[in-house]
Amino acid sequence: MADLEALRSRALDELAAACDDAGLAAWRSAYLGRQGAVIQVLRRLGELPAEERRVLGAGANALRDALEAAFKERKTEVERAAAAALEAGGIDVTLPGRRGLVGRLHPITQTERDMLAALGAMGFQVAEGPEVEWEYYNFDALRIPEHHPARDTMDTFWFDYRRDGRRSMLLRTHTSPNQIRFMEAHQPPVRVAVPGRAYRYEATDATHEWMLHQVEILAVDEGISMRNLKATLTQFAQALFGRDRPVRFRCDFFPFVEPGAEIAIQCGLCGGAGCRSCGNEGWLEIGGAGMVHREIIENVGYDADRYTGFAAGFGVARVAMLRHGIDDIRHFFSNDLRFLRQF
Ligand code: DAH
Repeated sequence: MADLEALRSRALDELAAACDDAGLAAWRSAYLGRQGAVIQVLRRLGELPAEERRVLGAGANALRDALEAAFKERKTEVERAAAAALEAGGIDVTLPGRRGLVGRLHPITQTERDMLAALGAMGFQVAEGPEVEWEYYNFDALRIPEHHPARDTMDTFWFDYRRDGRRSMLLRTHTSPNQIRFMEAHQPPVRVAVPGRAYRYEATDATHEWMLHQVEILAVDEGISMRNLKATLTQFAQALFGRDRPVRFRCDFFPFVEPGAEIAIQCGLCGGAGCRSCGNEGWLEIGGAGMVHREIIENVGYDADRYTGFAAGFGVARVAMLRHGIDDIRHFFSNDLRFLRQF
């Protein structure tokens, strides 16, 4: 009888500690199950003399009834506590899970990073400059004075900020002002790539946006020539479009370089024969380049008899469109997830 009493108090202690479904189920099988402690006692009754068997049997049955009742009570308590926790904002683990949204890099960012990685592999460092720029850096220092026709192609957003009575700050129209900024702050040798946004007051269409991303490239050192320009930019273009892709340089004019060039890659669809996607040209322009104008080398304080350099500017969206076969530049910033999820 003392053993039964000890069993009862141990069972009730453990029951009080069971606080969820799993704990209750384990307790039930330990005490009331087919191999449970109470059954074990009942099984051993057969070994006892009749008188003791009767007393002990009644005690064991009473214990079993008491434990059953205690179990029911505890189960209700646990269920009530769980319901209260739920109401108080607890987590219902029986609900289906919510899938976490995994973000990704915007296609412009992906392409920009690829471009910078290709340049980094060739020894270029990365720098940045301000989007709100002085008229001086954006135009004058690049040999684009007021009234120069090159300003017409780069109308932009001006700030109503006047210095000496003249409007003088604007949203930069290209990343080229960073050529000046970087050379003013560093001595040669220079090998720098400057990614960034530029802005133009422009009607948008399939190939023009009023906001654009560019990557500017500048290398200045002793003995830099057009050969270095062609070799570096060819390797750069082929890193992006494939090692066998033909690259073409043709004369072009930009006030801050002499000579100036346009860079094009052969159309991947027609192999140069001409098709709709390249406007029957066979070639697709990806950027401008040239030898840094001697006047600019002098103006930033470098010794122009000792140093020469080349510069280039690439449109990031243009590169992304050609690599992925995207036919409208406006897709990039229309924030349509059906478009963005493809990258
Ligand atoms: N800044 C020019 C543009 O936005 C592109 C360009 C042309 C950059 C020639 C250069 C260059 O560095 O040498 O149209």
